[in-house]
Amino acid sequence: MIQMFHVTKAYPGDPAVLTDINLDIDKAEFVFLTGPSGAGKSTLLKLMFLAERPSKGQILIAGRNIARVRESSIPYLRRNIGVVFQDFKLLPTRTVAENVGFTLDVLGVSRDEVRERSLKMLRRVGLEHKADVSPLKLSGGEQQRVSLARALVNDPAMLLADEPTGNLDPALTVEIMDLLCDVNARGTTVIVATHDASLIERYEKRTLRLERGSLVADTRGEKAAKLMAHDQ
Ligand SMILES: Nc1ncnc2c1ncn2[C@@H]1O[C@H](COP(=O)(O)OP(=O)(O)OP(=O)(O)O)[C@@H](O)[C@H]1O
Ligand SMILES: [Mg+2]
Repeated sequence: MIQMFHVTKAYPGDPAVLTDINLDIDKAEFVFLTGPSGAGKSTLLKLMFLAERPSKGQILIAGRNIARVRESSIPYLRRNIGVVFQDFKLLPTRTVAENVGFTLDVLGVSRDEVRERSLKMLRRVGLEHKADVSPLKLSGGEQQRVSLARALVNDPAMLLADEPTGNLDPALTVEIMDLLCDVNARGTTVIVATHDASLIERYEKRTLRLERGSLVADTRGEKAAKLMAHDQ
């Protein structure tokens, strides 16, 4: 699904934040991404979403070299990718349901169907009762769940989630992880950046670890969690 060959990323004027990344993630795999703050997790996810371009190296998504795609093709490629980024905001002037349905609107889905699918997705994240309020009236954890609903409403081939459980209590974290596992079982490739060692240990999924811009481990479960002991 995603392959990277010798990928390096430097933001303009700065030294590289990712160096010589090589990875291969299969279709319908579930992968955790860990590493200390600043290691490059969000940047790696942004490369996968074409929100940032690599400085060097090749990135293939579904066999296509995305380093070479034209700007104008990017929105089309993104249709198959759901994202929950740390710095992606919900639209404050739309209701929660409208935020969730936004991508379907853009695809030309009928009004009734957009509403129906948005409500169904909100039910799955436990927020159907907030459908018609402004996202400004939601807590941080609720906003995070709306972002997740928005990312999944389109049934994407791939989900990229940056700390999707960062603001959630343990019970909600389990619910959201169950949702992600369910989506994954139905064939969506899921990539989740997290600082939560207990999730890594408990769910036993493949875990890629970044340290100072390099991939340093590809393990899972307890072994992967142990490497996180001193992370911030
Ligand atoms: N837009 C940007 N311009 C310049 N530097 C950036 C930009 N975004 C991130 N960086 C730098 O790149 C490095 C990696 O950042 P990144 O956000 O990928 O880390 P992270 O692993 O996601 O950290 P965290 O766990 O805190 O979210 C950091 O040193 C950061 O300062
Ligand atoms: Mg980050």
